[in-house]
Amino acid sequence: MLRAGVITLALTVLISAVPAQAGEEGVAVFRGSCVACHSFSQNRVGPGLAGVVGRPAATAPGYVYSAAMRNSGIVWTEDKLDAFLAAPQTVVPGTKMTFMGIRDGGSRAALIAYLKAQQPVQQPQ
Ligand code: HEC
Repeated sequence: MLRAGVITLALTVLISAVPAQAGEEGVAVFRGSCVACHSFSQNRVGPGLAGVVGRPAATAPGYVYSAAMRNSGIVWTEDKLDAFLAAPQTVVPGTKMTFMGIRDGGSRAALIAYLKAQQPVQQPQ
């Protein structure tokens, strides 16, 4: 019994510690590279990114995408985001996201973990 409790505690600490760390680096990367054009609450120069992980490309309500993005057929899995954020123009040739990409894989991973945590705000009923 005691051992199970210790393991549960250890797991809880582990699970809560990892996203916190990734979150800090992810926030920093987002603030440094994305916030000029993106927000989680609304469309700006770029589409709103709340809930972007897992959603099909070009589906932020009210945002006018390039034909390249609309026709990309992409679903933003973590792998696709990783490739896109490394080289936007290579993954979606003709995209109007004028951003040269993030070369460091660790920074991209932290950023994607952060994006994953930004789900759309649930409106109270
Ligand atoms: C200079 C402005 C600019 C910067 C900087 C920028 N973006 Fe974008 N982003 C855009 C625009 C504009 C689009 C729409 C692209 C299109 O329609 O072709 C876009 C599209 C996207 C999409 C596709 C969203 C969808 O709904 O399909 C993702 C994901 C994305 N950006 C993530 C990021 C992240 C993460 C960063 C930071 C590393 C970033 N962008 C930096 C302007 C920018």
